[in-house]
Amino acid sequence: MRSTVLFLSGGLLFVLGAASLALTAWLWLGDWPQDMKAVVDHQRSLAERGAHGGDPTLQDVFAREHVSLAGRWQAAIDPYGRGDVGGIAPRAHEPGTPSDLAEFSFENGLELDVPGDWNSQDPRLVFYQGIVWYKRTFSHTTKPGHRSFLWFGAANYEAAVYLNGELVGRHVGGFTPFNWDVTDRLRKGENLLVIRVDNRMRDTDVPTPMTDWLNYGGLTRDVLIVDVPETHVQQFEVGLDPEEPGAIRARVRLAGPKRASGARVRIVELGIDVGIDTDDDGRGEVRLAASPERWSPASPRRYLVEVATRRWRDVVADRIGFRTVEARGEEIWINGAPLFLRGISIHEEALHGEGRVHSRAQAAELLGHARDLGCNFVRLAHYTHSQHMARLADEMGLLVWEEIPVYWAVDFENESTLATAKAQMREMIERDRNRASVILWSIANETPEGEARNRFLAELAAHVRALDDTRLVTAALVTDPSELAEFFVKDYLPALFGFELDEWVYPVHDPLFEVVDVPALNEYFGWYYSGGLAAVTPFSSHYARRVMLDHIGRIRVEHPGGKPFVISETGAGAKHGMRVPEAELAVFSEEYQALVYRKQVEFFRNQSGLAGVSPWILKDFRSPLRMYQGVQDYRNLKGLVSDAGERKLAFGVLRDYYAERAASDAL
Ligand code: GCU
Repeated sequence: MRSTVLFLSGGLLFVLGAASLALTAWLWLGDWPQDMKAVVDHQRSLAERGAHGGDPTLQDVFAREHVSLAGRWQAAIDPYGRGDVGGIAPRAHEPGTPSDLAEFSFENGLELDVPGDWNSQDPRLVFYQGIVWYKRTFSHTTKPGHRSFLWFGAANYEAAVYLNGELVGRHVGGFTPFNWDVTDRLRKGENLLVIRVDNRMRDTDVPTPMTDWLNYGGLTRDVLIVDVPETHVQQFEVGLDPEEPGAIRARVRLAGPKRASGARVRIVELGIDVGIDTDDDGRGEVRLAASPERWSPASPRRYLVEVATRRWRDVVADRIGFRTVEARGEEIWINGAPLFLRGISIHEEALHGEGRVHSRAQAAELLGHARDLGCNFVRLAHYTHSQHMARLADEMGLLVWEEIPVYWAVDFENESTLATAKAQMREMIERDRNRASVILWSIANETPEGEARNRFLAELAAHVRALDDTRLVTAALVTDPSELAEFFVKDYLPALFGFELDEWVYPVHDPLFEVVDVPALNEYFGWYYSGGLAAVTPFSSHYARRVMLDHIGRIRVEHPGGKPFVISETGAGAKHGMRVPEAELAVFSEEYQALVYRKQVEFFRNQSGLAGVSPWILKDFRSPLRMYQGVQDYRNLKGLVSDAGERKLAFGVLRDYYAERAASDAL
């Protein structure tokens, strides 16, 4: 009996073993159902493409032959990541027969515009932070001797890109371009493109989950298919040589099999048409004696510059302005002369509730208001804006501050956070390195002083200088809480008790002052600080504000000096149409905002070595932190213009100051 049982179970085990072997062989080699193969191919692609980031980013794609994938895309909101299971979303798996149980589908559901954030497109998504799947199909045939790239202007925050069910790659960072060469993945006929976008932020991300702006998610900028010859111009930089301004320096990087066979640069208006030898890595550089008319805010002159492979098989054309920018003592010099920065800070949020800027027209509307303010400078805060902004600024003659979102307390101890910040900085610089308007790269905003932070930012500043030796490095500082307390106790409190001091001294002793070329400060005299003090003293807010307003013009910022110093933020909130007699000092009234601006102008005049200002902010913007219902309603109201484009009283105050400034600077 026992031997029979043993024989039978041995037999059963053998059969089972043989069956699973056969199944594995069939799975690997057999001709099994298409969708099963799709699942396995999908799983395999996940394993192969774990790493982050795309192929080296193609530059100036809009000047190249491209196909836009803009339009209505099918989408699915996926708060729990259901679509990841078995790759149902990446494969856009749909039920085949009525008996097939499906619990995921792109059909008959949500559609979203691309480019565009999802928050302003569907009431369910206003504050949504999570995964949204995007799907569309397209046909594309790569021309012989060419490569096809899938290019994204930006996707917030993490994008996983699937082509025909397989993972092409992932990109982290919500505001800079990325692309992949997908030539070998394209199919004849219809291709399936599915993108998983996740805008949930973690403490180790850049930025962190806590920001004073709405974390717009989605495929916020253009998605293109860009065809380039096998050997093509990957990156180029053409500008005045920082070592000898009487010369133009042209740098190029070719990619492809013939990358070492040289390139060309041509600027017809300057009679330039020369070859550039390239090394095995496709890199080449030349200096060209030339004296182009300089680009400046007063005359934003640009030249058509063409960069090509040796036989002109690949040509990229761009309109580039030539100018120098330097920090000389406590001044910023443009083309060898000091220029005061008459600025305004801007969030990349279009007017009329349209969410993230993704079109030239939206960018033009914002910059139009800045122009009417009398600005010659804009601070694009706190992340890399759409490429339309810097390109328009080039045309309009506006100087630009660009920034990556190292904002408040990022994880300065974390190596991967630093790597993410560096990647965002590199992608921003590579995109806008030929924009004459861009003069400042900002490495941080209001980061709390500390050893890890100082190390992190010093390394980031060095990274910027290694990537670009033609521009200035800046950062927006904020007064350290202990120094602020010292300022309250030493100057503000005595004044509240009626003791008059000739001047109030606001200390800024941040070690970052030594690291950057242009230290900048965010200060909110007249808005923050008074309320807090009134809360802990017997004085009313009205009185505390009165005393502060009466003294703003006497405040002097004490800093190490010797560098151009900028006020990168200041301002006050106002709800457009909320009118209250000034004497009542009613916060959020237009009168109060205008009063704070008048006092801030006095403060600006009282600062020696002030090289520029960019008050906060051009337009009211969405922020989950602003919860004063009935007034703020999840909007930061420090705009000089409402979301509907209505100008507040303070708009006129700043415009008048800039008109006077422009007149005196022209002298
Ligand atoms: C800070 C910060 C901004 C914020 C502003 C404000 O300085 O940099 O992002 O919106 O203050 O409080 O309105």
